[in-house]
Amino acid sequence: MAAWKCLPALLLLVWVAGGISTTTTTTTCGNCKENGNYVICRHSAGGDVYEVEVLMETELLLQCKPSTTNLNLTFMEGCSFPSVEQIKVYGCPLPNASFGELFFQMGVYPENVTTFGFYDRNERDRPLEGWHLDGLEGLLTLEFVNNDFLGLPVDLFTPTPSLRRIKVVSDSFSSLPESIFFNLPDLETLNFERNRLETLPPGLFTNLTALTNVTFSHNYLSSVDPDFFSDKVNLESLDLSHNQIASLERNIFENLGALRNLSMQGNLLESLPSGVFSKLLSLEVLDLSFNVLRQLPEKAFDRLIDVKNIDLSNNSLDELPSEAFSKCESLARLSLRHNNLRKLQAEMFPRQTSLTFLDLGHNNISFTVNSAKILQEGPVSYEGNFPLNSQIRLQELLMNDNKIDFIPSAINNIFVDLKKVDLSGNEITDFSYHSLVFYQDSVILNLKNNNISYVDFHEIYDLLNEKEVKLYLEGNNLFCDCRMYLFTRIVQGQPIRKMKIMDIEVEDIEKVTCRNHDGIQQLLSQVDSTQLYCVIPDVQCIRNCSCLWRAHDSMVIIDCSFLGLQELPDLSILSKPLTKISVTLDMKNNSLYTLKGLKDPQFANLVNLTVSNNKISFINESDIPTTLKVLDVRGNELTNIPEPVLEVLNATDMILSFSGNPWDCDCDFINFLNFLHTPSRKVTDFDEITCARGNVYLHDLTEYSLCPYFMQPMVIVTLVAIGAFLLFFAVFGTVSFYKYKQGIKVWLYAHRMCLWAITEDEMDADKKFDAFISYSHKDEEFVNTVLVPGLENGDPKYRICLHYRDWVPGEYIQNQILQSVEASRRTIVVLSSNFIESVWGQLEFKAAHSQALQDGTSRIIVIVYGEIPPESELDDKLQLYISTKTYVKWGDAKFWEKLRYFMPHPPKKLNN
Ligand SMILES: *[C@@H]1O[C@H](CO)[C@@H](O)[C@H](O)[C@H]1NC(C)=O
Ligand SMILES: *[C@@H]1O[C@H](CO)[C@@H](O)[C@H](O)[C@H]1NC(C)=O
Ligand SMILES: *[C@@H]1O[C@H](CO)[C@@H](O)[C@H](O)[C@H]1NC(C)=O
Ligand SMILES: *[C@@H]1O[C@H](CO)[C@@H](O)[C@H](O)[C@H]1NC(C)=O
Ligand SMILES: *[C@@H]1O[C@H](CO)[C@@H](O)[C@H](O)[C@H]1NC(C)=O
Ligand SMILES: *[C@@H]1O[C@H](CO)[C@@H](O)[C@H](O)[C@H]1NC(C)=O
Ligand SMILES: *[C@@H]1O[C@H](CO)[C@@H](O)[C@H](O)[C@H]1NC(C)=O
Ligand SMILES: *[C@@H]1O[C@H](CO)[C@@H](O)[C@H](O)[C@H]1NC(C)=O
Repeated sequence: MAAWKCLPALLLLVWVAGGISTTTTTTTCGNCKENGNYVICRHSAGGDVYEVEVLMETELLLQCKPSTTNLNLTFMEGCSFPSVEQIKVYGCPLPNASFGELFFQMGVYPENVTTFGFYDRNERDRPLEGWHLDGLEGLLTLEFVNNDFLGLPVDLFTPTPSLRRIKVVSDSFSSLPESIFFNLPDLETLNFERNRLETLPPGLFTNLTALTNVTFSHNYLSSVDPDFFSDKVNLESLDLSHNQIASLERNIFENLGALRNLSMQGNLLESLPSGVFSKLLSLEVLDLSFNVLRQLPEKAFDRLIDVKNIDLSNNSLDELPSEAFSKCESLARLSLRHNNLRKLQAEMFPRQTSLTFLDLGHNNISFTVNSAKILQEGPVSYEGNFPLNSQIRLQELLMNDNKIDFIPSAINNIFVDLKKVDLSGNEITDFSYHSLVFYQDSVILNLKNNNISYVDFHEIYDLLNEKEVKLYLEGNNLFCDCRMYLFTRIVQGQPIRKMKIMDIEVEDIEKVTCRNHDGIQQLLSQVDSTQLYCVIPDVQCIRNCSCLWRAHDSMVIIDCSFLGLQELPDLSILSKPLTKISVTLDMKNNSLYTLKGLKDPQFANLVNLTVSNNKISFINESDIPTTLKVLDVRGNELTNIPEPVLEVLNATDMILSFSGNPWDCDCDFINFLNFLHTPSRKVTDFDEITCARGNVYLHDLTEYSLCPYFMQPMVIVTLVAIGAFLLFFAVFGTVSFYKYKQGIKVWLYAHRMCLWAITEDEMDADKKFDAFISYSHKDEEFVNTVLVPGLENGDPKYRICLHYRDWVPGEYIQNQILQSVEASRRTIVVLSSNFIESVWGQLEFKAAHSQALQDGTSRIIVIVYGEIPPESELDDKLQLYISTKTYVKWGDAKFWEKLRYFMPHPPKKLNN
């Protein structure tokens, strides 16, 4: 004994010095090594492996490997750890001698040990004996954990009279000797958790007046004697949870004025005696969860003015006393989760509005006002009936899995500290923007598994501060229609109006689905928000048509297709829109002949018009509203698009579709072809446009193949400038000018401008007359009094050969005509119905005229005088006349200007 007392003390000094001066390990005593501020000793022989660590000189850990059956501590021979106060032994067998002897062998002074823990006993056959704690008279704290002791000897604590704290956990004994604690007057804490105790002997706690914390949780106790606690005035914490206690005596807690924490959860309590808590004036925590409480006595908690936390969850409460918690003025946390509560009253909750946490989850709570009350008191608002309106300090409110059918506005307007709301598993149908605006900057709102069909962002407004809401929305009945537009955009991170709203994070976005109009579920994150629409009810739509509203572009889509309509529908029903709308009108497969009326105010919002597969043969420029952005005229009877319409279309950026029409691919078509060819043109079906004849694709045609004679106005000017224009006339004789070109030239000529550009060729120079006039004698008056004087006396003056006047009497009429034509540089035909009936009827006349035409010796000017039959009723030759296009209509404002233009210029000088 003397040996270990002196030598190791010296060695210890060496370790300490070594430990401070160097970090390398040095051998100290026995089989030990020292490293920094811990020493490690290892034994390994004959299958027994264990090691000892000494930390900071005060704490010793002995750890055995599972195979160890006997402790042989010779490997620590010569060691001394006089400062060790705490010893923890893990996984070792009970020693054959007392623990005091064992510690002594390791160089520890047993009487200096204050804390001893023995955990996870190995080799479980050897029983715990009364002498095992011998030598540990200084012990204050004892922990036996998970040792599977089958009983505690009655004299176990005799050697350790100073014990303050005993923890014997996870053993297998079912009873305790009555006098086991008799010599422990200082015992404060007793923890006998997780044993198999069924009863406690009546005198077990006699004289333990210092007890503050007692735990017998997780045993099989079925009752507790009131005498146990009769003198425990210092008791602060009593944990009887997870036993089988079915009832409590009324006076059991009578003397526990210092009790702060009472845990009775997990028992079989069906009811509480009234007044059972009435003396617990210091109580702060009351846990009665996981019992089978059906109801609570009136005023049960009235005296608990310090109580901060009451847990009544997982019971069978179906109602609460009318003022259950009203006097608990410190109550901050209350859980009523998993009961059968249906109705709550404002009076039940603390008057001091102290609640910060309230869990009402998994009940049958609804806030709906019952109809009897409405009958009695008149309409009562849901919100007014919300019983928590005065609990203004709530930070966390859990009301999941109830029968709540609206989101109480108190969460947004009253609970200024609210950070978390769980309303999942309820029957909520309406959810609007306002329910996301909280006082706090970051709030979690759980709305999973409700009946929400859309998130109403109709009344969205700016926020002053940056806010964030974490939202859960899975398991609702969302419908992806126009009403979900804004929410979908926000959730998908797409821009909406320039607004400062909260940052909405849908935490379960990958599980949030919505149903589209075809009943198909889609992930909300993948919905194409630009296509979200609603169906407008038939009564608000145009008769027989169907109407949709598309949110993204504020578009009313009206489908009037396949209805046999001959007119555009009356859109005036849409003419008083609240916001600016656009209209798409689909008129495909109807019987429209015209687009007349499109410029009426009722079409002012029309942006997309489909009139494909109708019978439209002509489009007038006055029919095209410039607001139109899309026009589809496929499958109609259009042959050409007139120039003025092209101009209107060119001025817009319209998307156009033209295929399926019987296009006339002739010279007149060039403007349209060029129009289509403009690179910026948005024609959806250019590749499909074909000509009426030959089924030729338009994109294969060039200007030249369409009309070989075509020349651009600029080219003409250039050619004229270089004289080629003359050659052009010489080669081709009669050239058909386009109206507009004639227009320009008539104007130029009348204004005496650029005469060099239009000088007549010299071919007709030797002709006797400037013009021969051919007319019916029934139109003689017009010819003699108007036409001839106008030409012969105007400026310039023309020399006119007049049929009848200048003909030689007796000559054969055909010759006369031929000679007249030959002698004149122009032939003027006064084309009237008289002419067609009387003159044209004469075969000779016709023959002469046509011959003259074919010879190309003269050019014909047709003056249309009065009404003539439609072109289609004229015979071929006459049609040919008219098609020369050098015709003027009497009555035309520019009659004389045009006529003079067609006349040779300058005229042949009159031989005066
Ligand atoms: C303990 O181990 C030592 C060797 O480490 C051995 O000499 C001694 O006999 C053992 N003692 C017992 C009781 O087994
Ligand atoms: C340990 O106990 C011995 C004898 O009982 C005593 O001399 C020594 O001072 C004690 N050591 C400490 C650190 O308390
Ligand atoms: C324990 O000690 C007793 C006597 O004190 C002795 O008979 C017994 O053999 C020992 N057992 C072991 C395993 O050392
Ligand atoms: C309890 O304490 C009293 C006085 O302090 C003493 O007379 C009595 O014997 C003690 N009872 C037990 C069982 O130790
Ligand atoms: C005893 O119980 C009180 C009240 O619950 C607690 O604050 C204290 O920490 C407990 N003491 C021990 C040693 O468990
Ligand atoms: C009350 O006691 C329970 C069970 O012993 C414990 O878990 C809890 O932490 C204690 N509460 C307080 C506030 O001491
Ligand atoms: C125009 O409306 C039709 C249906 O009427 C639609 O198919 C087409 O996509 C719309 N065009 C544009 C550019 O929105
Ligand atoms: C069409 O419009 C563009 C500019 O908008 C203009 O440059 C072009 O001359 C126009 N074409 C016709 C044929 O009017």
